[in-house]
Amino acid sequence: MCCGLLLAVPAAVTAFIAGYFCPRQDALLHGAGQLLQLGADSLGPLAQPLGYAAAGLGWVGALVAFVTVSATGTAIALYGLMSADADLALLLRGRHKPDAFRGKVIWITGASQGIGEALAKYLAGQGARLILSSRSAERLQRVKEACLDPSAVLVLPFDLLGPEADLAAAAAAADGAFGGAGIDFLIHNAGASQHALAAETTGEVAQQLLDINTLAPIRLTQAALPHMLKRGKGRLVVTASMAAKVPSPGQAVYSAAKMAVWGYFGSLATEVADKGISVTVICPGPVGSSSDTPRVLFGPKGKISRLEQQDKRRMAPARAVQLMANAMAAGVEEAWLAKQPVLTMAYLMQYLPLLGWMVLKKVGPGRARALSSGKSGYDVSSMLREQ
Ligand SMILES: NC(=O)c1ccc[n+]([C@@H]2O[C@H](COP(=O)([O-])OP(=O)(O)OC[C@H]3O[C@@H](n4cnc5c(N)ncnc54)[C@H](OP(=O)(O)O)[C@@H]3O)[C@@H](O)[C@H]2O)c1
Repeated sequence: MCCGLLLAVPAAVTAFIAGYFCPRQDALLHGAGQLLQLGADSLGPLAQPLGYAAAGLGWVGALVAFVTVSATGTAIALYGLMSADADLALLLRGRHKPDAFRGKVIWITGASQGIGEALAKYLAGQGARLILSSRSAERLQRVKEACLDPSAVLVLPFDLLGPEADLAAAAAAADGAFGGAGIDFLIHNAGASQHALAAETTGEVAQQLLDINTLAPIRLTQAALPHMLKRGKGRLVVTASMAAKVPSPGQAVYSAAKMAVWGYFGSLATEVADKGISVTVICPGPVGSSSDTPRVLFGPKGKISRLEQQDKRRMAPARAVQLMANAMAAGVEEAWLAKQPVLTMAYLMQYLPLLGWMVLKKVGPGRARALSSGKSGYDVSSMLREQ
């Protein structure tokens, strides 16, 4: 082949020069033609195997390139999924604008501790005007004082499970706060969790879990919605849970309550879509605690106190509230915030439910036992060992 090329290349160059510059073109062209012929002849017997070899090399190259590109793409996608802590649609929207909450009136229930407290501090830092609610006036006052500008914070304590008149009075006070600016965001965040086997949970506990997680945000919405409709503005945000998307062994009533919340607020969103009112349902997975205050939690027969260990599978409260704020500002209807493996379970239940059910039934019994006996509900390997 080298020999053929050595002959053919000078022949082509000679022919080119001859064509343009040489007065005896015919003689030179003839000579070049002979050289070309010679080159082709010397290649002749090798032409077919060389052709096959070149084609083979081409295919191997293309295959290697394809495998490399797809393996790299898959590795990047897997790494992205494993390190993601929210649904892709939310992550793609990125961080909210710096002035997204400036001057907005934001009413947060369950603001005395946990996620509500972290939200209050974050939104105060963004220049929002806050109304903080829960039963404990004293703890709300502490949160208010920890906010960037306490003068832009109103403490409005009441019991969400109290009489309708109390809820109506609270809604009227929130609507009239800050010179009657009206509510821009109402964040239904108060709630209570459950660590107990479904079979052992009493009817009374089930009622209390449904009351605080489902009926409380529905009743407060009924009290606040007329004010919002009159003004033609307002976003209802509800801290549901990943248990609203994925059945949660060891938290059956809690999951039922949060799924009901998802259904109610989703339906409401479609009813008021033309009235300036919108809805964001936030579905967090496990979130770490920002203080030593235990969460409001029910065991099988009543309230229990269990300080959740801050393990690495729980999202830091600061990150959770950042993502919640991003979802609120972006105006998404639903947002998932969770680390792995909970996020993957949500994707499985949404897009591959057959596989999702298989996994859930495998880990479910162990997880329910782990939660009800005070262990982590997110340590998959120990759940599988408990089988
Ligand atoms: N933390 C998580 O891992 C996680 C995960 C998914 C979803 N969530 C949801 O996120 C929300 C906040 O969770 P969290 O862990 O931060 O909660 P938390 O620490 O248990 O705090 C619950 C809040 O609700 C208030 N509350 C309870 N009962 C009330 C009542 N009857 N009336 C008025 N306020 C009441 C409590 O205040 P008072 O005691 O002062 O009334 C407290 O501020 C809840 O809806 C929870 O289900 C949490």
